[in-house]
Amino acid sequence: MNSPLSKILMQYEKKRDRDRRDLLARREEIYKRFPRIREIDGEISSVGLEKINEAYRLPENCGHILDELSAKIDSLKREKQEILASHGYSPDCMQIKYECADCKDTGYVGGAMCHCLKQNVISALYDLSHLKSVLKYENFESFDISLYSDQPFGDSAKSPKKNMENIYLECIKFVNSFPDADCSLFFYGNSGLGKTFLSHCIAKDLIDKGYTVIYQTAPDLIDVLRKTALGEDTEEAALIEECDLLILDDLGTESATAYSEQVIFNIINARLLAGKKMIISTNFNLEELMNTYPERICSRIFGNFRIYAFYGDDIRLKKIQAI
Ligand SMILES: Nc1ncnc2c1ncn2[C@@H]1O[C@H](COP(=O)(O)OP(=O)(O)O)[C@@H](O)[C@H]1O
Ligand SMILES: [Mg+2]
Ligand SMILES: [Zn+2]
Repeated sequence: MNSPLSKILMQYEKKRDRDRRDLLARREEIYKRFPRIREIDGEISSVGLEKINEAYRLPENCGHILDELSAKIDSLKREKQEILASHGYSPDCMQIKYECADCKDTGYVGGAMCHCLKQNVISALYDLSHLKSVLKYENFESFDISLYSDQPFGDSAKSPKKNMENIYLECIKFVNSFPDADCSLFFYGNSGLGKTFLSHCIAKDLIDKGYTVIYQTAPDLIDVLRKTALGEDTEEAALIEECDLLILDDLGTESATAYSEQVIFNIINARLLAGKKMIISTNFNLEELMNTYPERICSRIFGNFRIYAFYGDDIRLKKIQAI
């Protein structure tokens, strides 16, 4: 599979080829219209060689010869610019117009990625993640802890707010140590408690750091992999296995078939074997999880994921009531 980076670099290369071809065509056209400009360009390249030879023969005159050289080249360039300007051509019409002057559209400056390339990679990662617009609103900056109550909740030892503060800190630790976090994350609890929100926060943070993140709900994941099995969409399937973080949301909302169970096992198992991180969320409680999925799936989750219980009042309802 082509990584987003190699695809983008290919686009950079295509752009440079296109620019080079356009420049040659433009130059030919100008030469045809103004034969004097062809002569000037010829003179600019030959005068340099001539003067260098001269300086080599007469090293004692070197400074003077080089002064003459630059004066000659300046005057040739001036003449060329005058011809172009008097016919309405812009001064840079015989140069490549770079989209990014810093890297001259190569994507690298001194061996390091240019800001334009980094930005393009991040945009591609957003496109791939299926999260493009939502991450503007759901991220660590917009995380609102005041939505969680600090009153005791049922027989839970901690209030929903205390519980959430702890989960939040663990998620921050997860992104800061990514990809070396020791465990994947498993969020469970009723709907409307911020499981999806928090996985979006993590997605945005990691995408902005240049990691590949894919978000899929369980039904969509199964759909994509079914299509792949039928010979479509292979790129997406490869990404599901290879991305740095896979977020598998709403586990348990897929229609339960032997096929869907196999797909879920395969993906969890493949990623665990490859040492790749996941976040899985479900509205099931742990008992429902164990009643729904076979031991080989549950044991992988319990053995390799840090499990977080979400509880409290439905934030969606709270938000509606606040309107
Ligand atoms: N910490 C939070 N700060 C702000 N809004 C939140 C937070 N957690 C959840 N929400 C909002 O509450 C609603 C329900 O959250 P969601 O993540 O979809 O819950 P779940 O995935 O647990 O069902 C969404 O509209 C979401 O934007
Ligand atoms: Mg959700
Ligand atoms: Zn650049």
